[in-house]
Amino acid sequence: MSQIDWMERAIAQAERLHPYVTGKPIEILLAEQGISQAIKLASNENPFGAPPKAVAAITKHAAEVSRYPDGDSRSLKELLANKHGVASENILIGNGSSEVLELVIRCFAGSGDEVLFSSRAFIMYSLYARAAGAIEVAVPESDGLTHDLDAMAAAITQRTKVVCIANPNNPTGTVHNYAAIQGLLDRVPDNVVVLLDEAYYEFMDEADRQGKLSHPGLIICRTFSKAFGLAGCRIGYGVGDAEILRLVNRFRPPFNANVLAQKAALAALDDDAWVMDKVAKNNIERSRLEVILEDLGVLAGPSFGNFVLLQHSQASLILQKLEAKGIIPRPLAAYGMPDYLRITVGREEENDLLLSELPSILAEMVK
Ligand SMILES: Cc1ncc(COP(=O)(O)O)c(C=O)c1O
Repeated sequence: MSQIDWMERAIAQAERLHPYVTGKPIEILLAEQGISQAIKLASNENPFGAPPKAVAAITKHAAEVSRYPDGDSRSLKELLANKHGVASENILIGNGSSEVLELVIRCFAGSGDEVLFSSRAFIMYSLYARAAGAIEVAVPESDGLTHDLDAMAAAITQRTKVVCIANPNNPTGTVHNYAAIQGLLDRVPDNVVVLLDEAYYEFMDEADRQGKLSHPGLIICRTFSKAFGLAGCRIGYGVGDAEILRLVNRFRPPFNANVLAQKAALAALDDDAWVMDKVAKNNIERSRLEVILEDLGVLAGPSFGNFVLLQHSQASLILQKLEAKGIIPRPLAAYGMPDYLRITVGREEENDLLLSELPSILAEMVK
């Protein structure tokens, strides 16, 4: 063990950071429990896999990994610009949408600046703000689960540099419609950057995403990790003002979107019918899970993502029992929500397994 106090050498923020806790990998659970099969309902991935056209593109281009990718992701930006009705310069490609969130926060928030978000929003806003040495302003939810847009608007100060909105939010699954989001945007000063994180956009009700959102500092973030089935590729993007993105681009590492991720994303966009079919199946299964969890008395509220939220005072014991049966949900203690488990909507047979085990597990719990 080194005698050097590396924490003392690291920048002050390191002490207040912790690595992001990911969903438990299947292989780890199998080894822990000594079982041979398990299902992972912990990371909101697409349970149907990757779009066939994306898999074919990865196979076709596999040998190209010896070369650096197009560092500007030109073809992908062009296709996305077309899809969003903007120019290529309005698109920023990230190594996952998390990287877009990080780069924007790093570009605009430093020591003494405030980054504002809902207290139970996606945890990376808080960690990126912390890493940047900025002040985290976490606004409590109106009902414990839903972004309180009025309170967020009221919390904006002269020092606010970035406002983050997760819509739908992970882990709570709650959503605001575009009219409500625009209501908040109207109250955000023009020179404040707004990150509207739409990682679960495809799972929203059509009616909630009608209309156009507008604010000079608005950056809409989307990902290929969820509905598009490419979580392992790590690719996402932001859509926003060209001048803002030119600045953010100064913080972007070279070649941040790898060759296969770019090819897979291009092909996935061309496999829209596959993606939308899986989203439709997901939403049917989400409703089925919600009805049954409600009957069992453990549904926290409706979700608009590809996951549902279970609430029970003995959530950690339920987690242990589900894991013993080879089912991996996501504990939410890191969000200050120890009484909740987030469960990704799986394929029908995976959800059947969950629903066959859950009633007897709950029956053993003291309410
Ligand atoms: C709300 C939200 N935003 C962003 C992300 C980041 O996704 P990725 O970096 O895979 O694009 C996630 C991942 O779980 C998320 O839930």
